[in-house]
Amino acid sequence: MSKKWTLNSAVTAAILSAFCFTGSALASTETEQKQQIEPRNQVFADAHADQYKSWEATKNSEEITDALKEDPNMVVLWAGYGFAKDYNKARGHYYAVTDVRETLRTGGPKDENSGPMPMACWSCKSPDVARVIDDRGEDGYFAGKWARLGSEINNSIGCSDCHDTNSEDFAQGKPALKLSRPYAERAMETIGMKFEDQSRFDQQAQTCGQCHVEYYFTGPNKSVKFPWDKGTSVDEMEIYYDEIDFKDWTHGVSKAPMLKAQHPGYETWREGIHGKNNVACVDCHMPKVQNEDGKVYTDHKIGNPFDRFEDTCAQCHTQTKEALQGIVSTRKASVLELKLTAEKQIVAAHFEAKAAWDAGATEQEMAPILRDIRHAQWRWDYAIASHGVHMHAPEVALRILGTAIDRATDARTKVVRLLATKGITEEIQIPDISTKEKAQQALGMDMDGMNAEKASFLKTVVPEWDKQAEAREAKY
Ligand code: HEC
Ligand code: HEC
Ligand code: HEC
Ligand code: HEC
Repeated sequence: MSKKWTLNSAVTAAILSAFCFTGSALASTETEQKQQIEPRNQVFADAHADQYKSWEATKNSEEITDALKEDPNMVVLWAGYGFAKDYNKARGHYYAVTDVRETLRTGGPKDENSGPMPMACWSCKSPDVARVIDDRGEDGYFAGKWARLGSEINNSIGCSDCHDTNSEDFAQGKPALKLSRPYAERAMETIGMKFEDQSRFDQQAQTCGQCHVEYYFTGPNKSVKFPWDKGTSVDEMEIYYDEIDFKDWTHGVSKAPMLKAQHPGYETWREGIHGKNNVACVDCHMPKVQNEDGKVYTDHKIGNPFDRFEDTCAQCHTQTKEALQGIVSTRKASVLELKLTAEKQIVAAHFEAKAAWDAGATEQEMAPILRDIRHAQWRWDYAIASHGVHMHAPEVALRILGTAIDRATDARTKVVRLLATKGITEEIQIPDISTKEKAQQALGMDMDGMNAEKASFLKTVVPEWDKQAEAREAKY
């Protein structure tokens, strides 16, 4: 009996150790064989020529539109925050890395530890982000200032942002869609949409929803998180942020604890008529088209769907291009009108709050006013920072802007009453903010200094980054 036991246990031990051995042998070959995520888009130029060429054509959308010049109110709304320095409208994916290097918001860091922004600012710009997270883990990526890995993040938004480019399926020309950002994967799970369990339609939209979403920076490493724990509507995210007492910055004029909405395009699209009818981003922005040989492929030139109406809207709608464009531009005008109405109220509220502080108001007196300002501006920003919202979900944008105006009016009613108790009854004057330059001047911003710092950074630091990136990639 005992002999048998010994034998058995010896056999078991042998089997176990053999198993463990194979296990660890497997694990070690796995680590040896673990392929690095390929960040270079041009590597796929031959294997997937149609997709590559159409992806590369996003470089045709090169125009830079200065949003602050178009609407100087925004300089005041973002006073004390990076966006008041410089904010351009979105252009082609091809330019994402160039644009984040060139914006005044990232400043002119002189070494890896200086500069205003954290590493998180690279997160939606490059497949190198997926590569670095895969190599070093999320903390290894997020820790430190934006300039720390400037030489590592150099390829613009591309193949490995949306595809498992190392998979056999991808090599064979199948989509092999993938979420390349672990924080996006977690957020999708939070709202009950684990990527692996979704339909093809939802997966397509989720690839865009890695970046075209609301997010914030949290924890010691300022990591990216989507504030979706309570849901993705403007109200649910507002409650979420209030409960954790989060603020992106303290307003430079009113001292309100502010939220900056990023670009909740995925969230607002879900609430709109197309999202509700399973019409995905891809149906309009990446239509299926034919190459010269008649082979169907996905056009990767993500841009304005009206530019190729026949392949997009006309696949489902019988109206003419002019008719549909007419509807969309009417909606755009309505959204713009309410946007400007909200801005007028919120700008006034910021200056009136400042006047109340100057007249000796206490923190306790100011708290409810600042809270209304915070909510008003969060709602205004959520609506307008969802680029294309007038197309994707105009009724959502209009409703939210309506609530923004309501909160701003609440703030102003309260602050005017408070001012009266301090003996101030005349109207609070707003400085001349009729142009971007005048608005920046009114806030005392040193634009010459910032521009000089940026120019020097682009001349000295960036070429160094490019050199190092080239040397690193030469070894791939
Ligand atoms: C922003 C996300 C995104 C990027 C960037 C991207 N793709 Fe795609 N790709 C997609 C989507 C979405 C589809 C269509 C999936 C479907 O049909 O379900 C697709 C489809 C494909 C397919 C399958 C065949 C086809 O045409 O439908 C290939 C191959 C492909 N892409 C290659 C590439 C290559 C090469 C690059 C880089 C040059 C790239 N993709 C960049 C999202 C992306
Ligand atoms: C890795 C992050 C990322 C992913 C994934 C992504 N985008 Fe973008 N997208 C951006 C950034 C950043 C910009 C702005 C680039 C700039 O202005 O430099 C942008 C710009 C755009 C624009 C404006 C283009 C123009 O020419 O004006 C559209 C439209 C767009 N994205 C749609 C999509 C769609 C649809 C998907 C999914 C198929 C998608 N994006 C996936 C980050 C991303
Ligand atoms: C039903 C078609 C349709 C769907 C679905 C759709 N879009 Fe759009 N989108 C458009 C059109 C059309 C425009 C341009 C509107 C205009 O010309 O004013 C646009 C504009 C945009 C813009 C602004 C581009 C710029 O330069 O300002 C972005 C970004 C964008 N879409 C991303 C997305 C994302 C991400 C999704 C999915 C979450 C999506 N879109 C779903 C049709 C669509
Ligand atoms: C894949 C199919 C599909 C594509 C592509 C598509 N749509 Fe739609 N669209 C729909 C569906 C479905 C509805 C909802 C119809 C309904 O409920 O009656 C809709 C509704 C609409 C409506 C009316 C609903 C409203 O908001 O009042 C407009 C306007 C519209 N689409 C414009 C566009 C434009 C512009 C494009 C191209 C940029 C486009 N659609 C692309 C399927 C599509």
